[in-house]
Amino acid sequence: MKIGVLGSGPVGQQLGEAFVKSNHEVMIGSRDPSKLNSWVTKQPAGKASSGTFADTAAFGQIVLVATLWQGTKAVLEAVGRNLDGKVIIDVTNPLDFSGNKPRLALGYGDSGGETVQRLIPNARVVKAFNIVGNAHMYKPDFDGGPPTMFICGNDEEAKREVTKILDNFGWETIDIGGIDGSRLLEPLAMLWVAYYLKVGTGDHAFKLLRRSA
Ligand SMILES: NC(=O)c1ccc[n+]([C@@H]2O[C@H](COP(=O)([O-])OP(=O)(O)OC[C@H]3O[C@@H](n4cnc5c(N)ncnc54)[C@H](OP(=O)(O)O)[C@@H]3O)[C@@H](O)[C@H]2O)c1
Repeated sequence: MKIGVLGSGPVGQQLGEAFVKSNHEVMIGSRDPSKLNSWVTKQPAGKASSGTFADTAAFGQIVLVATLWQGTKAVLEAVGRNLDGKVIIDVTNPLDFSGNKPRLALGYGDSGGETVQRLIPNARVVKAFNIVGNAHMYKPDFDGGPPTMFICGNDEEAKREVTKILDNFGWETIDIGGIDGSRLLEPLAMLWVAYYLKVGTGDHAFKLLRRSA
């Protein structure tokens, strides 16, 4: 499949490489595609490329949103019509780093996931991968076994497609419902960040534990 990744940062590069390893063809988008030259060179020939955000949105059959929150609206407004009908994986967290500790830029009565879905109403947005650091997004390897990736979105088929990707990447996936579930998943990412700031490492992830009856 062709995967477009809107975002050239650590998340875009890690997930881009993960999709290449999973035998997909990947384009990463940026305002300056040349900054991805070394990433492209590291991938197997013919499997990876970089382009403008518009090229990338048009290229992807599935498209990831992995932009700094403050740039997300501009990117989606510019490329949105190329996303109609597509499965969109929203990895963003609407973080505001302007104070002495990060906070949710949208508070708790709205979310990045819902905002992304409103910006591209004809796309099928699934929130995923936002509750873990980029180093562990692919083949997470923790002492307690596969961690849990909670996802949400309004389109059932889109969530099934994203679940297949997560299965392949080594996650247990739990679907928590509609895209308004982002109001839970983005604060969960804040908890991940708070623990990161406390211990100084990003080697942690969440897992839902159950007891059999
Ligand atoms: N870092 C993590 O481990 C992690 C984990 C989970 C979720 N997330 C979330 O994933 C997203 C990506 O994070 P990241 O750490 O990979 O990188 P990032 O620095 O948050 O984002 C980099 C991307 O944002 C774009 N961008 C920045 N300002 C922009 C603007 N004003 N207009 C348009 N585009 C702009 C950059 O475009 P250019 O390429 O043109 O520079 C680049 O592609 C964020 O929303 C973050 O909260 C991060």
